[in-house]
Amino acid sequence: MVESLMDRIPLNNGYTIPGLGIGTGGLTGKEAEDAVFYALTQGYRLVDTSPNYDNEEDVGRGINRAINAGIKRSDIFVSTKIEKDSMDFNKAIDSVNASLERLNVGYIDMVLIHQPATDDEVNLDAWRGLEDIYGSERVRIIGVSNFKRADLAPLLEEAKVRPAVNQYEMYPGDSDPATNDFCDNENIVSMAYSPLHKGKVLENRHVHSIAKKYDKTPSQIALRWHIQRNVVAIPRSSDKDHIRENADIFNFTLADEDMDTLNKLDIATGKRGHDAETYADQTRQRLNFRGQDNNAQNYRRR
Ligand SMILES: NC(=O)c1ccc[n+]([C@@H]2O[C@H](COP(=O)([O-])OP(=O)(O)OC[C@H]3O[C@@H](n4cnc5c(N)ncnc54)[C@H](OP(=O)(O)O)[C@@H]3O)[C@@H](O)[C@H]2O)c1
Repeated sequence: MVESLMDRIPLNNGYTIPGLGIGTGGLTGKEAEDAVFYALTQGYRLVDTSPNYDNEEDVGRGINRAINAGIKRSDIFVSTKIEKDSMDFNKAIDSVNASLERLNVGYIDMVLIHQPATDDEVNLDAWRGLEDIYGSERVRIIGVSNFKRADLAPLLEEAKVRPAVNQYEMYPGDSDPATNDFCDNENIVSMAYSPLHKGKVLENRHVHSIAKKYDKTPSQIALRWHIQRNVVAIPRSSDKDHIRENADIFNFTLADEDMDTLNKLDIATGKRGHDAETYADQTRQRLNFRGQDNNAQNYRRR
């Protein structure tokens, strides 16, 4: 578990990722630039964007302002994606090159396939494009987003480079245990988008009562829950108070009973996969079959 904004989680390729970052979906122009710059000055070190957020240039400007203010580029982790119109070998490479130009930050730390295609072959073709640029000076980490087990398993069968990260929706009330367990078993770090349920976590009475107990806000409880589960969280905010508030989660620990309550909100909201047990059995069988080739002890820090 990360202990600070700058602390990092090891990935399966030897690199590391900060445990908390700022999301930028829905922010454009000066608002995006200022939010990114402010977050970096407050100690955030992970910035998440995507070509379809139409803000890579703005995000890049915010990052460059922070670099000019003295923050090292090597301490900043920039994550972007390829979109569904770039799902083949050449288009994936072209998309990354276009992002590199728009971001203008020298290199991209991580590129994710934003959405799986329904056809596994299409996913694999795009993945081959990302594999081609993986390890170059331009991109250090490749991964996926919104991939469920059914999308990931076939990709893992064929991939030369394993995805290091899967970014998918998670918040107290929907922890997507099936995807989460699968990623854990495959040494793929889970990254939560909409970690505050797009702000709706503030309306959750269970989260509220836990917040009261710790003298914290509901957002802080939700984000602390993510990091105690070793899930990377990327809350989006353009509000300076919220950006600071969301980072102030490293001075308390949620007790097991409260983690349990938050985990069980899946059941309360009917979101816990009805086939979770079946899925767990299938995973166990598959890992036995494969001989469990991944070893968490082999991680090394950058
Ligand atoms: N891979 C994907 O398919 C995918 C999909 C969706 C999102 N994402 C990524 O994940 C990021 C986060 O997800 P999200 O933007 O959907 O939702 P989110 O981070 O769960 O929620 C964002 C909302 O919460 C509010 N908020 C943030 N901090 C708050 C606080 N401390 N108190 C009260 N309100 C607060 C924000 O408003 P204020 O600005 O007023 O603070 C905003 O309205 C995105 O920005 C994007 O980078 C990825």
